[in-house]
Amino acid sequence: MPLRIDILTTFPELFDPALPGGVLNASIPARARAAGLVDWHATNLRNFTNGRHQKTDDRPFGGGPGMVMMCQPVYDAVLAVEASDPRPATRILLTPQGRLLDQRLAEDLATKPRLLLIAGHYEGLDERVVDKLAPLEVSIGDYVLSGGELGAMVLMDAVIRLLPGALGHEESAAQDSFSVAQSYSGHPQTPRRDRIVVPPSTRLLDCPHYTQPREWMGMAVPDVLLSGDHGAIERWRLEQRLARTRERRPDLLPPSGEMAGR
Ligand code: ADE
Repeated sequence: MPLRIDILTTFPELFDPALPGGVLNASIPARARAAGLVDWHATNLRNFTNGRHQKTDDRPFGGGPGMVMMCQPVYDAVLAVEASDPRPATRILLTPQGRLLDQRLAEDLATKPRLLLIAGHYEGLDERVVDKLAPLEVSIGDYVLSGGELGAMVLMDAVIRLLPGALGHEESAAQDSFSVAQSYSGHPQTPRRDRIVVPPSTRLLDCPHYTQPREWMGMAVPDVLLSGDHGAIERWRLEQRLARTRERRPDLLPPSGEMAGR
Protein backbone atom coordinates (compact mmCIF):
# COMPACT_ATOMS: atom_id res chain seq x y z
CA MET A 1 0.00 0.00 0.00
CA PRO A 2 1.45 3.41 -0.87
CA LEU A 3 1.78 5.98 1.90
CA ARG A 4 -1.21 8.26 1.49
CA ILE A 5 -0.75 11.96 2.14
CA ASP A 6 -3.70 14.35 2.18
CA ILE A 7 -3.12 18.08 2.20
CA LEU A 8 -5.84 20.50 3.28
CA THR A 9 -5.16 23.91 1.78
CA THR A 10 -6.73 26.89 0.08
CA PHE A 11 -4.12 26.43 -2.70
CA PRO A 12 -4.59 22.80 -3.80
CA GLU A 13 -3.19 23.52 -7.27
CA LEU A 14 0.31 23.79 -5.75
CA PHE A 15 0.19 20.04 -5.08
CA ASP A 16 -1.27 19.02 -8.44
CA PRO A 17 0.83 16.14 -9.80
CA ALA A 18 0.19 17.49 -13.29
CA LEU A 19 1.46 20.98 -12.44
CA PRO A 20 4.47 21.65 -14.69
CA GLY A 21 7.38 22.71 -12.53
CA GLY A 22 5.65 21.70 -9.29
CA VAL A 23 8.37 21.12 -6.70
CA LEU A 24 7.06 17.66 -5.85
CA ASN A 25 6.74 16.75 -9.51
CA ALA A 26 10.47 16.34 -10.04
CA SER A 27 13.22 14.10 -8.79
CA ILE A 28 12.67 11.64 -5.94
CA PRO A 29 9.07 12.51 -4.91
CA ALA A 30 7.88 12.23 -8.52
CA ARG A 31 9.71 8.92 -8.98
CA ALA A 32 8.35 7.58 -5.70
CA ARG A 33 4.84 8.51 -6.73
CA ALA A 34 5.25 6.91 -10.16
CA ALA A 35 6.60 3.76 -8.46
CA GLY A 36 3.50 3.54 -6.25
CA LEU A 37 5.33 4.20 -2.97
CA VAL A 38 3.33 7.31 -2.15
CA ASP A 39 0.23 9.06 -3.31
CA TRP A 40 -0.95 12.53 -2.37
CA HIS A 41 -4.21 14.42 -2.74
CA ALA A 42 -4.83 18.07 -2.02
CA THR A 43 -8.29 19.12 -0.88
CA ASN A 44 -9.51 22.69 -1.10
CA LEU A 45 -10.71 23.98 2.26
CA ARG A 46 -13.05 26.30 0.38
CA ASN A 47 -15.15 23.27 -0.61
CA PHE A 48 -16.15 23.01 3.05
CA THR A 49 -17.36 26.55 3.57
CA ASN A 50 -21.05 27.34 4.03
CA GLY A 51 -21.52 30.86 2.68
CA ARG A 52 -21.65 31.99 -0.90
CA HIS A 53 -18.30 33.70 -0.58
CA GLN A 54 -16.42 30.55 0.37
CA LYS A 55 -14.82 32.38 3.25
CA THR A 56 -12.35 30.31 5.26
CA ASP A 57 -11.19 33.13 7.53
CA ASP A 58 -12.45 36.08 9.55
CA ARG A 59 -11.15 38.93 11.72
CA PRO A 60 -9.66 38.01 15.09
CA PHE A 61 -11.73 38.58 18.24
CA GLY A 62 -9.94 41.14 20.37
CA GLY A 63 -8.73 42.97 17.30
CA GLY A 64 -5.29 43.01 15.75
CA PRO A 65 -3.91 42.51 12.29
CA GLY A 66 -4.48 39.58 9.98
CA MET A 67 -7.20 37.02 9.66
CA VAL A 68 -7.88 33.76 11.46
CA MET A 69 -8.98 30.56 9.77
CA MET A 70 -12.41 29.49 10.99
CA CYS A 71 -13.07 26.24 12.81
CA GLN A 72 -15.87 24.78 10.78
CA PRO A 73 -14.33 24.46 7.28
CA VAL A 74 -11.15 22.99 8.72
CA TYR A 75 -13.00 20.56 10.98
CA ASP A 76 -15.44 19.41 8.29
CA ALA A 77 -12.64 18.99 5.77
CA VAL A 78 -10.56 16.86 8.15
CA LEU A 79 -13.48 14.55 8.95
CA ALA A 80 -14.56 14.23 5.32
CA VAL A 81 -11.08 13.50 4.04
CA GLU A 82 -10.38 11.03 6.82
CA ALA A 83 -13.60 9.17 6.04
CA SER A 84 -12.48 8.62 2.44
CA ASP A 85 -9.97 5.96 3.52
CA PRO A 86 -10.23 3.51 6.43
CA ARG A 87 -6.56 3.82 7.39
CA PRO A 88 -6.00 6.06 10.39
CA ALA A 89 -4.33 9.35 9.49
CA THR A 90 -1.65 11.10 11.51
CA ARG A 91 -2.92 14.68 11.67
CA ILE A 92 -0.25 17.33 11.25
CA LEU A 93 -0.69 21.08 11.39
CA LEU A 94 2.10 23.14 9.80
CA THR A 95 2.71 26.13 12.05
CA PRO A 96 5.69 28.13 13.33
CA GLN A 97 4.42 27.23 16.83
CA GLY A 98 5.05 23.53 16.25
CA ARG A 99 7.91 21.24 17.19
CA LEU A 100 10.80 21.55 14.78
CA LEU A 101 10.88 19.06 11.94
CA ASP A 102 14.02 16.95 12.12
CA GLN A 103 15.26 13.73 10.58
CA ARG A 104 14.01 11.66 13.51
CA LEU A 105 10.46 12.96 13.04
CA ALA A 106 10.71 12.41 9.27
CA GLU A 107 11.82 8.80 9.89
CA ASP A 108 8.91 8.27 12.26
CA LEU A 109 6.37 9.73 9.82
CA ALA A 110 7.76 7.56 7.01
CA THR A 111 6.51 4.48 8.93
CA LYS A 112 2.87 5.70 9.06
CA PRO A 113 0.23 4.48 6.63
CA ARG A 114 -1.35 7.87 6.16
CA LEU A 115 -0.60 11.55 6.85
CA LEU A 116 -3.05 14.43 6.83
CA LEU A 117 -1.36 17.81 6.52
CA ILE A 118 -3.21 21.01 7.35
CA ALA A 119 -1.67 24.09 5.81
CA GLY A 120 -2.81 27.17 7.68
CA HIS A 121 -2.68 30.72 6.39
CA TYR A 122 -2.91 34.24 7.69
CA GLU A 123 -2.54 34.40 11.48
CA GLY A 124 -3.28 30.69 11.81
CA LEU A 125 -6.26 28.64 12.88
CA ASP A 126 -8.89 29.38 15.51
CA GLU A 127 -7.41 27.66 18.56
CA ARG A 128 -10.61 25.74 19.26
CA VAL A 129 -10.30 23.62 16.13
CA VAL A 130 -6.66 22.93 17.01
CA ASP A 131 -7.80 21.75 20.45
CA LYS A 132 -10.54 19.60 18.93
CA LEU A 133 -8.43 17.95 16.23
CA ALA A 134 -5.31 17.67 18.39
CA PRO A 135 -2.90 17.49 15.43
CA LEU A 136 0.83 17.13 15.79
CA GLU A 137 1.99 20.73 15.32
CA VAL A 138 5.12 20.92 13.19
CA SER A 139 7.34 23.85 12.19
CA ILE A 140 10.01 23.63 9.51
CA GLY A 141 12.16 26.33 11.11
CA ASP A 142 12.26 29.43 13.24
CA TYR A 143 10.95 31.84 10.64
CA VAL A 144 7.48 32.71 9.42
CA LEU A 145 6.24 31.61 6.01
CA SER A 146 3.21 33.05 4.26
CA GLY A 147 1.39 29.77 4.67
CA GLY A 148 1.83 26.13 5.59
CA GLU A 149 2.06 24.90 1.97
CA LEU A 150 5.83 25.21 1.68
CA GLY A 151 6.17 23.61 5.10
CA ALA A 152 3.96 20.74 3.92
CA MET A 153 6.10 20.28 0.81
CA VAL A 154 9.31 20.28 2.82
CA LEU A 155 7.88 17.69 5.19
CA MET A 156 6.61 15.57 2.29
CA ASP A 157 9.97 15.61 0.54
CA ALA A 158 11.85 14.68 3.73
CA VAL A 159 9.44 11.79 4.42
CA ILE A 160 9.04 10.47 0.87
CA ARG A 161 12.79 10.04 0.27
CA LEU A 162 12.88 7.74 3.32
CA LEU A 163 10.25 5.33 2.00
CA PRO A 164 11.85 1.97 1.22
CA GLY A 165 12.72 1.94 -2.49
CA ALA A 166 12.49 5.73 -2.98
CA LEU A 167 16.22 6.17 -3.33
CA GLY A 168 18.19 4.26 -5.90
CA HIS A 169 20.81 1.81 -4.71
CA GLU A 170 23.45 4.49 -5.19
CA GLU A 171 21.68 7.07 -3.06
CA SER A 172 21.17 5.30 0.24
CA ALA A 173 19.92 7.56 3.02
CA ALA A 174 22.20 5.81 5.53
CA GLN A 175 25.02 8.33 5.10
CA ASP A 176 22.89 11.45 4.77
CA SER A 177 23.37 14.30 7.15
CA PHE A 178 21.42 13.67 10.35
CA SER A 179 21.31 9.91 9.76
CA VAL A 180 22.29 7.82 12.78
CA ALA A 181 26.02 7.04 12.53
CA GLN A 182 27.41 3.53 12.93
CA SER A 183 30.62 2.94 14.87
CA TYR A 184 33.66 1.86 12.88
CA SER A 185 35.08 -1.40 14.20
CA GLY A 186 36.98 -2.61 11.12
CA HIS A 187 37.70 -6.34 10.89
CA PRO A 188 38.21 -8.59 13.94
CA GLN A 189 41.98 -7.90 13.94
CA THR A 190 41.61 -4.11 13.87
CA PRO A 191 43.37 -2.77 16.96
CA ARG A 192 41.19 -1.04 19.51
CA ARG A 193 42.87 2.33 18.95
CA ASP A 194 41.85 2.27 15.25
CA ARG A 195 38.19 1.75 16.02
CA ILE A 196 35.78 4.63 16.34
CA VAL A 197 33.00 4.26 18.85
CA VAL A 198 29.97 6.43 18.23
CA PRO A 199 27.33 6.31 20.97
CA PRO A 200 24.02 4.79 19.82
CA SER A 201 21.57 7.15 18.11
CA THR A 202 24.17 9.84 17.40
CA ARG A 203 23.21 11.82 14.31
CA LEU A 204 26.06 13.35 12.34
CA LEU A 205 26.46 15.68 9.39
CA ASP A 206 27.49 14.12 6.10
CA CYS A 207 31.13 13.74 5.03
CA PRO A 208 32.57 15.64 2.02
CA HIS A 209 32.16 14.05 -1.41
CA TYR A 210 34.31 14.21 -4.54
CA THR A 211 34.00 13.12 -8.16
CA GLN A 212 35.95 13.51 -11.42
CA PRO A 213 38.39 15.02 -12.22
CA ARG A 214 40.97 13.84 -9.70
CA GLU A 215 42.55 17.26 -9.71
CA TRP A 216 40.70 20.54 -10.19
CA MET A 217 42.27 24.01 -9.93
CA GLY A 218 45.26 22.44 -8.22
CA MET A 219 43.11 20.73 -5.61
CA ALA A 220 43.40 16.96 -5.37
CA VAL A 221 40.87 14.44 -4.14
CA PRO A 222 41.94 12.95 -0.75
CA ASP A 223 44.24 9.96 -1.43
CA VAL A 224 42.30 7.59 0.76
CA LEU A 225 39.28 7.79 -1.58
CA LEU A 226 41.45 6.53 -4.44
CA SER A 227 43.07 3.77 -2.37
CA GLY A 228 40.45 1.10 -2.93
CA ASP A 229 40.75 0.24 0.78
CA HIS A 230 37.10 0.08 1.80
CA GLY A 231 37.84 -0.13 5.53
CA ALA A 232 40.07 2.95 5.37
CA ILE A 233 37.46 4.83 3.35
CA GLU A 234 34.70 3.94 5.78
CA ARG A 235 36.87 5.06 8.70
CA TRP A 236 37.87 8.32 6.98
CA ARG A 237 34.26 9.16 6.18
CA LEU A 238 33.20 8.62 9.77
CA GLU A 239 36.11 10.78 10.98
CA GLN A 240 35.05 13.52 8.59
CA ARG A 241 31.46 13.32 9.74
CA LEU A 242 32.57 13.62 13.35
CA ALA A 243 34.97 16.50 12.65
CA ARG A 244 32.38 18.48 10.68
CA THR A 245 29.71 17.91 13.27
CA ARG A 246 32.08 18.96 16.07
CA GLU A 247 32.95 22.12 14.17
CA ARG A 248 29.58 23.12 12.72
CA ARG A 249 26.90 21.48 14.83
CA PRO A 250 28.32 20.52 18.24
CA ASP A 251 24.74 20.51 19.54
CA LEU A 252 24.21 17.20 17.69
CA LEU A 253 26.95 15.43 19.66
CA PRO A 254 26.45 13.75 23.00
CA PRO A 255 28.13 15.44 25.99
CA SER A 256 31.92 14.92 25.82
CA GLY A 257 33.00 11.91 27.78
CA GLU A 258 30.55 9.64 26.00
CA MET A 259 32.66 9.69 22.83
CA ALA A 260 34.98 7.06 24.26
CA GLY A 261 38.22 6.54 22.40
CA ARG A 262 37.96 9.78 20.40
N1 ADE B 1 3.63 28.33 8.47
C1 ADE B 1 4.17 29.56 8.64
N2 ADE B 1 5.42 29.47 9.06
C2 ADE B 1 5.71 28.13 9.18
C3 ADE B 1 6.86 27.40 9.58
N3 ADE B 1 7.99 28.00 9.97
N4 ADE B 1 6.78 26.07 9.58
C4 ADE B 1 5.65 25.45 9.20
N5 ADE B 1 4.55 26.08 8.82
C5 ADE B 1 4.56 27.42 8.81
